[in-house]
Amino acid sequence: MSRTKILVTGGAGYIGSHAVVELYEAGFQPIIVDNFSNSQESALRGVEEILGVRVPLHRIDCNDAEALRAVFAEEGSLRGVIHFAASKAVGESLQKPLEYYQNNVGSLLTLLQVMREFGVEALVFSSSCTVYGIPDALPVTEQTPTKKANSPYGATKQMCEDILRDVAAAPGNTLRTILLRYFNPIGAHASAKIGELPLGVPQNLIPYVTQTAAGIREQLTVYGDTYDTPDGTNIRDYVHVVDLAKAHVVAVQRLLDKQGETVETFNVGTGRGNSVLEVVHAFERATGQKLNYKIGPARAGDVPAIYADVTKSVEVLGFQTTTTLEESLASAWKWQQTLGK
Ligand code: NAD
Ligand code: WQD
Repeated sequence: MSRTKILVTGGAGYIGSHAVVELYEAGFQPIIVDNFSNSQESALRGVEEILGVRVPLHRIDCNDAEALRAVFAEEGSLRGVIHFAASKAVGESLQKPLEYYQNNVGSLLTLLQVMREFGVEALVFSSSCTVYGIPDALPVTEQTPTKKANSPYGATKQMCEDILRDVAAAPGNTLRTILLRYFNPIGAHASAKIGELPLGVPQNLIPYVTQTAAGIREQLTVYGDTYDTPDGTNIRDYVHVVDLAKAHVVAVQRLLDKQGETVETFNVGTGRGNSVLEVVHAFERATGQKLNYKIGPARAGDVPAIYADVTKSVEVLGFQTTTTLEESLASAWKWQQTLGK
């Protein structure tokens, strides 16, 4: 039987590459679109090694409507799309707001137009817990009000969500959308053949931790220990990237089965919050590595604490994470070791 084709934009990236693996293993035929603006083809060699097959790739920009049309026409019979492609660096978005709005909002608009032209009616969209800003109460549910974004990056995710809700509400709409709000994705595939490939000095905690343990960075700075949390450091919900990838498989299947509302939103997290210091100590326990770290000043714009209420994901989507923090961190370390120095 032929596999159901799912277009995966940004499929060469960190989360996309893991989703491609899970989709294929679940019986789908992922088709990758990527412009390699924040990834390398080597990631796809890893995917190929894991799966034992080459996944079709189209090296195009999602803002290029003609190129996208050509992909839809060439592939034919695409049943759904997972739209990972976006620019994701919060700090960079403050420097280059126009580029972020163009790439993140512009690419979604272009994709939606082409999907409509070709009658493709299922979309999973990569949203983020960043849409909640600094929440008034924890954990955050999908009903928790969003707050004004504190970066153009965050604003693009809110705008994309709004666009998708407006499209769903329009008369005659046939598109079904699932918005997945990821918390903090970490770790790598168990094979250590794919993982996160941060360019330059990592801004995110886990790659900085693993690079410090590997001797690439001298010391981790913990950004502030005077927050109103039990140990004074920020709290986040760290979700293993393979668990997160599996949530996409469940979401795609739900869309194809035409279950639920025309647009639905789900948190994807573990439901647990861990502080930065808990992560540091869990990393040390999981890997046997002693981590050189110091407490430094708070980083501007950081949310003191956020973690997911996953009741809706569990009960409605039927999705639950299974990987512990220690297992996630061990996988990140294994991946770092394969990258070397
Ligand atoms: P990533 O940068 O590793 O992957 C994104 C991929 O999209 C890259 O391969 C990049 O080359 C590609 N891309 C970007 N713009 C493109 C365009 N216009 N056309 C074609 N390809 C394009 O990022 P990621 O961590 O895998 O994130 C995937 C998605 O999840 C993004 O939408 C991101 O905003 C969202 N997200 C990420 C996190 C996180 O912490 N990693 C958290 C929440 C949400
Ligand atoms: C985690 C914690 C830092 C580095 C960002 C985006 C968010 C989402 C995920 C896309 C924080 C602390 C970090 C370091 C540290 N992305 N830290 N020392 O800030 O929760 O979220 O990525 O949607 O939108 O804002 O993730 O990994 O940068 O930080 O102490 O060297 O680690 O202060 O508490 P963050 P992060």
